[in-house]
Amino acid sequence: MNFNLKLILPSVILAVFALSGLHAEEKSNAPVSKREVQAKLEYCKTCHGVQAQGFRGAYPMPRLAGQQPEYIENQLKAFIERRRSNPVMFNVAHVLSPAMLAALTHEFQTLDPKPLGGAPKDLAAKGKKIYEEGVAGTDIPPCASCHGPQAKGDGQFPRLAGQLHDYVTRKLTNWEKERGQDRAHPDTSAIMQPIAHDLKPDQIAAVAAYISTLD
Ligand code: HEC
Ligand code: HEC
Repeated sequence: MNFNLKLILPSVILAVFALSGLHAEEKSNAPVSKREVQAKLEYCKTCHGVQAQGFRGAYPMPRLAGQQPEYIENQLKAFIERRRSNPVMFNVAHVLSPAMLAALTHEFQTLDPKPLGGAPKDLAAKGKKIYEEGVAGTDIPPCASCHGPQAKGDGQFPRLAGQLHDYVTRKLTNWEKERGQDRAHPDTSAIMQPIAHDLKPDQIAAVAAYISTLD
């Protein structure tokens, strides 16, 4: 028997190195299985609705269906880093691994349920005008210029179509208390801040009613 150890050993060592290299990569961003992603998704839907269409209760749960992946990822990171304050979502988000976080964001984009509705109908016309033209005589620009003519969003600009009107009303009313809470690390919430600040309560109610009807 003539095992050529000199030839075999280096390849064994190389193989071990290759494996340990792979392992290090997995650790930094451990992959998640389809089953794990599905199980987590079901958990998200217990609050956000069976089709992620949102849920209208005492505390409105936002619609995530059709939402932009980049926006969802930004918000989950903001909850984790407490730049966006919400005790419920901090607890939910801070246990998500980077791989799970990335996998989840893409799942929601594929869902397309009908809007939940329920907003006062008489406000929608006034809301449409604000959405498409902004508010004359103020610095409030057309919402459409960033959120898109159909309110479908784009990247860091969230989809607003079909979002629950009571959720939108709360978010626009409380913007400065909830978002951009780490002054040393300003984030994308700063783009919306002056707009949320300048909108009057009746204008918020109108534009929230309008976008909640959009498919
Ligand atoms: C126990 C209920 C609950 C569960 C479970 C839950 N959420 Fe939430 N989520 C909320 C609430 C309440 C809000 C609204 C927070 C606010 O008002 O700012 C929210 C907000 C969000 C937002 C921000 C939406 C927006 O339009 O800005 C994202 C993104 C989100 N959740 C993702 C998830 C994901 C992903 C999961 C599953 C891993 C999940 N949530 C599970 C209750 C929950
Ligand atoms: C200059 C661009 C721009 C304009 C114009 C704009 N937005 Fe935004 N909006 C943003 C960005 C960026 C975000 C995401 C903020 C973040 O990451 O926290 C946002 C977020 C929002 C959110 C939060 C969505 C959620 O799911 O929580 C609402 C509601 C909103 N905008 C409504 C409006 C309305 C209503 C108008 C018009 C009166 C408007 N926006 C005009 C850029 C804009």
